[in-house]
Amino acid sequence: MKLSCEKITVDFVGLRALDQVSLSVKTKEILGLIGPNGSGKTTLLNTIGGQLKPTKGNIFKDNLDITEFTPQHRVKNGLARSFQIVRTFDSLNVFENIKSASLVSNMNYSDKIKFCDEIISYLNLDRIKHVLANTLNYGDRRRVEIARAMATDPDFLLLDEPAAGMNDDESEILLTMLREIPNKFNLGILIIDHDMSLIMKLCDRLHVLDSGKTIAEGLVDQVKTHPDVVKAYLGEGFKNENA
Ligand SMILES: Nc1ncnc2c1ncn2[C@@H]1O[C@H](COP(=O)(O)OP(=O)(O)O)[C@@H](O)[C@H]1O
Ligand SMILES: [Mg+2]
Repeated sequence: MKLSCEKITVDFVGLRALDQVSLSVKTKEILGLIGPNGSGKTTLLNTIGGQLKPTKGNIFKDNLDITEFTPQHRVKNGLARSFQIVRTFDSLNVFENIKSASLVSNMNYSDKIKFCDEIISYLNLDRIKHVLANTLNYGDRRRVEIARAMATDPDFLLLDEPAAGMNDDESEILLTMLREIPNKFNLGILIIDHDMSLIMKLCDRLHVLDSGKTIAEGLVDQVKTHPDVVKAYLGEGFKNENA
């Protein structure tokens, strides 16, 4: 399966946030979307997730044009996303949070419960399964949010800075988990993260935005030495982190 954006342009008042951006990600692949702060990464994820309608351009899942689909309709069609800001149901426990997300999947009820338990154990959430979401620490909440997205049984998982706010150890553990998800759960991942060492270890390919435009795309080793990428990241420690 393939998820693709074709020539996505997004205009806000007085600002072109995205300018003809095209990318695609396939099943079992991890594509990293990177770029300096304000380069349009979250805006692109919002157009793919349906939270934002592009000014121009189209989103396809295989040959299906989903540009006009609501976010809910996209989830039904195999697209799930996590947000840069955590969105769990505070008054539900971890299991209930994940189970409520699984209701949209096409599985029968007992398979849903089994699948939720599989995700819970995969993401190391067993020990906090019955804990209320609003009492969790930040790292745990982020993993619950990823679990909620996975519980919809998606073909593509869209992750916006899943390691934001985690310490180095937590990020490293998350990285190890994410790395195996595409094969284990037969899906593709599109991930945004500003942590360059994490993204370079995790991704098969990278897509780089700067001021709403694609400046480079390709295999990690090709992209990280691309002059425009190095330039875009000057002052953000890009070279140092990967020296
Ligand atoms: N709803 C909005 N209205 C107006 N401008 C926005 C809106 N959302 C984002 N922007 C602007 O669009 C640009 C890209 O933002 P964003 O996609 O959040 O960047 P990134 O995720 O790469 O940091 C920024 O200049 C930002 O200020
Ligand atoms: Mg962002």
